[in-house]
Amino acid sequence: MSVDLVSEIERLKKERNAVILAHNYQVGEVQDVADMVGDSLGLSREAAETDADVIVFCGVYFMAETAKILSPEKTVLIPDPNARCNMAAMIDVEGLRALKAKHPSAQVVCYVNTTADIKAECDACCTSANAVDVVEGLDADEIIFVPDKYLCAFVEKQLKERGVKKKMIPWQGFCPTHLRIIPNYLKALKEKHPGARIITHPECTPDTNRLADAVLSTSKMSKFAAESDAKEIIVGTEVGMLHRLQTDNPGKKFTSATELAVCPNMKLITLQKVYESLRDMKFEVEVEEEIAKKATKAIDRMMEFTG
Ligand code: 13P
Ligand code: SF4
Repeated sequence: MSVDLVSEIERLKKERNAVILAHNYQVGEVQDVADMVGDSLGLSREAAETDADVIVFCGVYFMAETAKILSPEKTVLIPDPNARCNMAAMIDVEGLRALKAKHPSAQVVCYVNTTADIKAECDACCTSANAVDVVEGLDADEIIFVPDKYLCAFVEKQLKERGVKKKMIPWQGFCPTHLRIIPNYLKALKEKHPGARIITHPECTPDTNRLADAVLSTSKMSKFAAESDAKEIIVGTEVGMLHRLQTDNPGKKFTSATELAVCPNMKLITLQKVYESLRDMKFEVEVEEEIAKKATKAIDRMMEFTG
């Protein structure tokens, strides 16, 4: 017997007192059943504030882990535990400790795209929406920034524009999905759509971001799309973002910089798996208490610098 997934998800959500949080890169039908669709920062905040007993996190593992750290008393489920961030997998605790030993007076900032054990090693966490404010706010002249070297370059550039001097020491990680958004794609699209604005994500390379009218986190992309007078916008980030932008702004045209910008891990979450997750209460996300305690400090520090 086939089940109507959407109505079953709705029924189970009530039965379990559950909330579904979905990242902007989720497939459209998963975004459509979510109680909230957002970026890493917005979803973390929602996870901390919701009074639901169960959070079904539709995103990659580090996001669900962050929700669990912020809400240890809640049951946090991820519909597919194999949905991991490729960038988060590029750093390990041993390597980070070695880098810290080389720069003992530096403070360490980690992008939220890290596992809990990496967050536990850091002074402050950040997302792409608040990275510049977090780094500026820390009382240190030297900052080790992990794991995204391109977000680090973006922060460095913004700090320079603000007249803030800090030595940035990047980890050499990157997002393979955003690396696919090469400058030539943007140049060709700009020629084809001369009136369009270009927005890109800080995870893109500096060469790609140089061609953009604005470099924005996914939540800031939503804001830009709603407030801009541009009728056409070229979007340099993961393709899932287009669903959100198009749904919220039906009168505007959005074009993906490249259909190759797909995060295979985000796409592991399907409507069927969301249904099974609520039905069978799987897969439960757990974070070791000691690690969670240390990681919470880094996340709380981030919140201090976030308006
Ligand atoms: P945002 O925080 O901007 O949503 O980005 C998260 C992410 O994984 C981008 O690849
Ligand atoms: Fe990680 Fe890149 Fe996927 Fe974002 S798009 S979750 S950074 S692999």
